[in-house]
Amino acid sequence: MGMKDPSNKVISLSHRRDQKSGTPGSRSRNKRGGNARVIAITSGKGGVGKTSIVANLGYAFRKLGKKVLILDADLGLGNLDVLLGLAPRFNLSHVIMEEKSIEDILIEGPGEMKILPASSGIQELTNLTRKQKFNILTQLDQLIDSVDVFFIDTAAGISSNVMDFNVTAQEIVVVVSPEPTSITDAYALMKVLSLKYSEKVCKLLVNMVSRPEEGREVFRQLHLVTDRFLDIQIEYLGCILNDENVPKGIKNQKIVSQLYPDTHASRCFRDLARKISAMPPLNCPKDGSNLFLRHLGGE
Ligand SMILES: Nc1ncnc2c1ncn2[C@@H]1O[C@H](COP(=O)(O)OP(=O)(O)OP(=O)(O)O)[C@@H](O)[C@H]1O
Ligand SMILES: [Mg+2]
Repeated sequence: MGMKDPSNKVISLSHRRDQKSGTPGSRSRNKRGGNARVIAITSGKGGVGKTSIVANLGYAFRKLGKKVLILDADLGLGNLDVLLGLAPRFNLSHVIMEEKSIEDILIEGPGEMKILPASSGIQELTNLTRKQKFNILTQLDQLIDSVDVFFIDTAAGISSNVMDFNVTAQEIVVVVSPEPTSITDAYALMKVLSLKYSEKVCKLLVNMVSRPEEGREVFRQLHLVTDRFLDIQIEYLGCILNDENVPKGIKNQKIVSQLYPDTHASRCFRDLARKISAMPPLNCPKDGSNLFLRHLGGE
């Protein structure tokens, strides 16, 4: 299933994995020689660290020499720009209202990461029409060839906006903290991904753990129930240590990796970026030329 455009076409990422098999595919090269990897960072419960993870992982990928683009897809309550100490003049709301193009709103963050900022406090944006989503996705299509990694920082929860961004990504990373409510909400999110959107694979990243074993234990608990009740495979991506320097950085509007490069969390982000870089993406390219494919036909 993908996202339908107004003319009833389905739109999805070209590098998505084969939904039926969920088997890993080889890296693809697009027309311009790029091979962007599209990763959605999402969660059931709010406040588990998605935006902090996207910003710090993006920064760590830049340090590995990768070109990074981040989309703040928390359309109604975006705060990636605030976290990075940026003050963009324009944001996605201007693209949605067709006042600006996606290139017009592109700004540069720390380490020369490219950022597409969202607006904050525009409630209508939490419920985009298919036409508006189609417009954003087709414009994103034009940017994707120029980057190596494209992160989508979603809002929390299971709204259709969140799900539409998740299912258009090549890889879905579900962020969870060790709190029981976060774990049950992660299960609820995976249930919707599996039952409603036929997703076959997602990755689990456990944030704010006191030690690595705690991350593995959260994975074990979730895996037990997904394995038993859902037709979705979860893979353990890793964990990020709880580190008081993360909120300290935010107070200074700087990311922890920049402000305290040697603190525990910053090391975790560097390790995670290296790990992801070394892993093959999940998907088999369906087209190899564009970010989004437009398939004729229904869902
Ligand atoms: N590894 C960590 N250690 C300590 N604090 C953390 C860590 N990761 C995130 N935090 C803190 O958790 C809070 C929430 O983080 P963040 O805004 O990134 O979460 P979010 O999932 O994007 O939230 P929302 O669902 O509202 O978008 C922040 O105060 C941040 O500093
Ligand atoms: Mg956030």
